[in-house]
Amino acid sequence: MAAATRKKAKSKKKAATKKKAVRKSAAKKKTAKKKTVKKAVKKKTAKKKVAKKKVVKKKAAKKKSASKSKRKSPSARKSAAYSPPNKHSISFTVNGALVETEAPAHTSLLYLLRDLGFTEVKNGCEAGDCGACTIMLDDVAVNACCMLGVQANGSKIETVKGIGTVDNLHPIQEKFIELGGIQCGFCTPGMIVAAKALLDDNPTPTREEVKVGISGNLCRCTGYVKIIDAIEAAAADMASK
Ligand code: FES
Ligand code: FES
Repeated sequence: MAAATRKKAKSKKKAATKKKAVRKSAAKKKTAKKKTVKKAVKKKTAKKKVAKKKVVKKKAAKKKSASKSKRKSPSARKSAAYSPPNKHSISFTVNGALVETEAPAHTSLLYLLRDLGFTEVKNGCEAGDCGACTIMLDDVAVNACCMLGVQANGSKIETVKGIGTVDNLHPIQEKFIELGGIQCGFCTPGMIVAAKALLDDNPTPTREEVKVGISGNLCRCTGYVKIIDAIEAAAADMASK
């Protein structure tokens, strides 16, 4: 009887141990499963994050390339911005001859005259400092570089060539040659026009008045004494006739 009881107890113990082992292994399995699920979720989230990053990157690249293609090259921008200036009809007389032309509003009278072939109007400074471009505009000496071509419309212009010709020199031109008032000659056309304007206004100027009369004309050869002598002599010559 005792042996039977012992056997029963032993088998009960064995069954309990087995149950425990089964429970343990089930719990282990559950934990492992949980871990696997957790890992999978983690992996999925990471994957999602990478995909999201990729989309953002792609979008940014697309935006950049779109704005780049929208941007025009400097030359394209320049050609798009450029529109040729309107030309204006201009007419005036130069040394008695009618000249009809057209030019943009910003063209200076100096450039216009030289482009038309009146190269006796010299370009020295283009700033009103040297007087090399002096012309007579409606009987007043002006610097052609300080005027616009359109401003001369309807005017009477006289250059050094209109004052006298090679065959019929003006007394001022004669005296410039005779007394050495011409050195390199660059200032001479403007100087003679300024002298003509002075003598037209004041036929018998004093030496001081001659100096003031040509004070807007620079001679880079610095031969002012001979120039002043020539103007004085021309005035005396003209007064005696
Ligand atoms: S070029 Fe006109 S003043 Fe010098
Ligand atoms: S003669 Fe040469 S600049 Fe006057």
